[in-house]
Amino acid sequence: MPLVTSGSFVIISFTIWFSTPQLCRRQVGAQLGTTPNIKHIVIGRCFTYTTLVNPSVRYDCEDIWRQFEEAVVHQSSCNVTEEHYHQLFNAMPQMWPCDTFLFWSKTRKLMHAFAAVFQHFWTLEDTLVGYMFNDLIWCGQEEDSDFDFNSCPEWSTCRTHPVFSLWKQASKTFAEMACGNVTVLLNGSIVNAFSRKSMFGSVELDGLNPQRVNYVNIKVMSNLQGPHIESCNQGSILDLIQILQSRGFRWTCTDNDPVLRILQCIQDLTQPSCQIPANSLMQQESPTSN
Ligand SMILES: *[C@@H]1O[C@H](CO)[C@@H](O)[C@H](O)[C@H]1NC(C)=O
Ligand SMILES: *[C@@H]1O[C@H](CO)[C@@H](O)[C@H](O)[C@H]1NC(C)=O
Ligand SMILES: *[C@@H]1O[C@H](CO)[C@@H](O)[C@H](O)[C@H]1NC(C)=O
Repeated sequence: MPLVTSGSFVIISFTIWFSTPQLCRRQVGAQLGTTPNIKHIVIGRCFTYTTLVNPSVRYDCEDIWRQFEEAVVHQSSCNVTEEHYHQLFNAMPQMWPCDTFLFWSKTRKLMHAFAAVFQHFWTLEDTLVGYMFNDLIWCGQEEDSDFDFNSCPEWSTCRTHPVFSLWKQASKTFAEMACGNVTVLLNGSIVNAFSRKSMFGSVELDGLNPQRVNYVNIKVMSNLQGPHIESCNQGSILDLIQILQSRGFRWTCTDNDPVLRILQCIQDLTQPSCQIPANSLMQQESPTSN
C-alpha cells in the first residue's frame, strides 16, 4: 500500500484534538524581564498573521495591543488574572472548522512535524493569540506605566503570573471552541503522560464540551529509542480515558501511530527501528478503541 494513501486515510479518520500548550517548554527565568521590543514584535506578528497567515478575518492590531497593554501594565507582576485579559480576547474572536483541533502535551517537536505535514490541523499556536505571544515574556510593575524589562517572576512563584494567565485563557478559549473529532498527542516515554497539572489536563480537558466533540482520539507516541513507559492500557492514560468516559465522551486510543512513527523516522533515520522497509512500519501496532 502506498504510504501517502495510508497516511491520508489515517489522518482523515483520526481527527485531532490537541492539547497541552507550550507551557512545558516555556520556562520563564527569574532574571529575564519582558522581551525587548515586545510591542513591535506583537504588533508585527499581528499584521503578519492578519495579512499573510490567515487573512480571512479582520482584526485591529493596534487595538489588540492596547487591550494587552491595559491588562498588564500598572499591575503588580504577580497579579494578572485571566479576567484581566477578557477585553483582549474579545478583540480577537476566532472560529475554527470542526475536526481540526489538535491538542498535545510534552510532544512539542512531534506536534510541529505533524502539523507541518498535515496542514489542516490547528493547534493553539495557529490561533492569533498563540501566534502573537509565542515564546514571549512579559510583566508589568505596579508603580510604573510600562512593562518591567529588568525582571519578571518565575511562573512557579505566583498563582496569577501574567504570562501563565494569558496562556491559560488562550487554552481555555481554544478548547471550548473544539468540535467534531479532536486529537490528543501524548508522550509515552514519560511518567504521567497525562497529567492533571499540565495545561491539557488542568484547562483544556475541562474546556472540551461532550456535546460539541464527536470523538477524542488519543495518540500515545514514545520515542524511537524508548523508553516505553505509558500506553493506551498502562499508566496515566487510563486516568484520562476514565475522565473522558465519565463525562460522556467517545474516544479512541492508538499506541505509536504508524504515520507519526514515519514522521519520527524522517527526523532521525539513524535509529535502528527505522532501518526497515516502510511497509512494515505500517503494521507495527494496531489501534485499540471503544
Ligand atoms: C472521527 O473519529 C472516529 C473514531 O476514530 C472515526 O470513526 C470517524 O470516521 C472520524 N470522523 C471524522 C469526520 O474524521
Ligand atoms: C491584586 O489585584 C487586586 C484586584 O485586581 C487588588 O485588590 C490587590 O491589592 C492586588 N494585589 C497586589 C499584591 O498587588
Ligand atoms: C517525550 O518527552 C521527552 C522529555 O521531555 C522528550 O525528550 C521527547 O522528545 C518526547 N517524546 C515525544 C515522542 O514527543
